[in-house]
Amino acid sequence: MAKEIRTIGVMTSGGDAPGMNAAIRAVARACAYYNVKCIGFYRGYQGMIEGDYCEMNARSVRNIISQGGTILKSARSEEFRTKEGRKKAMDHLKKLGIDAMVLIGGDGTFRGGQIFSEEFDIPVIGVPGTIDNDISGTNYTIGYDTALNTVIDAIDKIRDTASSHDRLFFIEVMGRDAGFIALNSGVGAGAEEILIPEEDLGLDRLLESLKRSKRSGKSSSIVVVSEGDKIGKNVYELADYVTENLPDYDVRVTVLGHMQRGGSPSCFDRTLASRLCVKAVELLLDGEKNVMVGLIDNKVTATSFDEGLSSEHEINKELLRISDILST
Ligand code: F6P
Repeated sequence: MAKEIRTIGVMTSGGDAPGMNAAIRAVARACAYYNVKCIGFYRGYQGMIEGDYCEMNARSVRNIISQGGTILKSARSEEFRTKEGRKKAMDHLKKLGIDAMVLIGGDGTFRGGQIFSEEFDIPVIGVPGTIDNDISGTNYTIGYDTALNTVIDAIDKIRDTASSHDRLFFIEVMGRDAGFIALNSGVGAGAEEILIPEEDLGLDRLLESLKRSKRSGKSSSIVVVSEGDKIGKNVYELADYVTENLPDYDVRVTVLGHMQRGGSPSCFDRTLASRLCVKAVELLLDGEKNVMVGLIDNKVTATSFDEGLSSEHEINKELLRISDILST
């Protein structure tokens, strides 16, 4: 029989994402509702290793639903990759009487959680929180929607100045290994070209497309580039390449950077975080372990870490075709 759950720990790990605070709030409030003690660890796995924690109740998460970032702070812990590090973390959990953990983060967080849970037989539930949306086992990760809106807003502003000066802008967005942000914001902002890690469109095609744009009478253009784009050139090299080959273009570069991870979460992300985290606590109380929660076809689901981590969240390449048609 599964051990009774009296105390649940929660932490945020990896790159922060808007909506992580809404997630922490939902864990703390669901714990309060079900009469379970809740303990928050600072800086993800590193805080578990160091025993850096705070007791949380329904009131300690007041007014955080609208705040970006994470009140528990976030980090990537090298020490947790070692068995000794994980042992230190487990010792602190035991000392605090923690029976189960809710881990809010990306695939790296889930991989760490899976190993930890198997090594020490402690139930963990993963909650997908990353702006990259690169986790299978959910259609949407917490923070992705807000990041998209931030990016769209920035591109709209750049479009204004691009069009006033008849310029071509290369705009780099986040996504080291995944092009979800680039592809969806690119379509949403009406970019002329979108370069993503999942598809190598090639430099020739880029030049052809920009020549076509000029011929069709466009005076300004936007190219959205994912930071992990497959062409193999960074955004500045791409801009130089186009300047050399198409001297008629007046080219500029904007790297949006970490501003994409900040800001007040959208309603979608707040609701998503709330739904997923209530479910995470309820699953633990029902004796479930080693799964990630997610939203699939608008239903809250539980997927085993094995399944969730073994496949890639596939990007909708149909959007590249749509973008091609609409940038005519
Ligand atoms: O949060 C995910 C992500 O934004 C990636 O797209 C990006 O490559 C990475 O984090 C950068 O994070 P950091 O600067 O914190 O290492």
